Amino acid sequence: MFNRIYKKNINLLLDSGRTKAGDKNNNMNKLLERGIIKNLPKKWNDQQEAEILLLRSSGLNTFEIAERVNRSEISVNLKLKRLTKKDGSYNVKHVLDKYNTNKLFLDCIKPASVLDLFSGDSWYKGKVKRLVTCDINKKFNVDFSMPAFDLLCKYNLEKQKFDLIDLDPFGSAIEEFHLAIRLATKGIIITLGELGHKRWKRYDYVGRWYGITTYEDFTSENIFKELQRIASCHKKELTLVFKKDYNRISRVWCSIKPLKIDVWANDKEKK
Ligand SMILES: C[S@@+](CC[C@H](N)C(=O)[O-])C[C@H]1O[C@@H](n2cnc3c(N)ncnc32)[C@H](O)[C@@H]1O
Repeated sequence: MFNRIYKKNINLLLDSGRTKAGDKNNNMNKLLERGIIKNLPKKWNDQQEAEILLLRSSGLNTFEIAERVNRSEISVNLKLKRLTKKDGSYNVKHVLDKYNTNKLFLDCIKPASVLDLFSGDSWYKGKVKRLVTCDINKKFNVDFSMPAFDLLCKYNLEKQKFDLIDLDPFGSAIEEFHLAIRLATKGIIITLGELGHKRWKRYDYVGRWYGITTYEDFTSENIFKELQRIASCHKKELTLVFKKDYNRISRVWCSIKPLKIDVWANDKEKK
């Protein structure tokens, strides 16, 4: 008897994370009437959904995210399951294309050494002479289980160089790009996860990092121009080899050359 009631309530709770808005409200009202929950759950808006996806992509667990956004762990868990399920369908298509393009890029620049930050299981395994992998998530078998930024600090201190560096986060890698561009000699790949903010017309992040403050200017082309500018500060010339615009995420594959600087260029123009 107890088991039957328990199962019924659990199913209602789980269904609230799976069903349409109307059915979900009905289920929640039933749970409230039965005293299973004390309050109706707070509604989520687009901004809050974006925030928990960003927190998740920066490596926080459900408990930590729940504390940050002042919600219960179960509410965050259900919401994340729904959001990542939605994104899962586009992930499959885009991941296959990402790997195909990686392959074409390897054929172009033929790197002997690769630093794969945000590596997961690492697509590069067995494909290059020297591979260093890094992922914050302890479940992956990587060389460095740590934040990519910290590993880049270490390698900058040691003045290590890599032919190719791959930055493939769920969100933005601009903070890591500033350090990675100093170490990469032949190529750099960066996934522009910040394009996800466009859906919510969120300009706070891209405003600070790229000076993008309008919907029209919020493009992968403009972000790439800013990456080129940053690279030039480090005397490197970035050339776009491939750019792929997927659903709410883009990725750019760039070759690198030393930037030739003519310090007298301005004077010559004046003459
Ligand atoms: C889009 S997945 C990368 C997938 C992988 N590059 C591939 O092609 O299969 C992003 C990865 O970044 C990791 N991650 C998230 N924040 C990180 C951080 N600050 N430093 C290093 N890895 C991080 C996640 O654990 C996740 O495995």
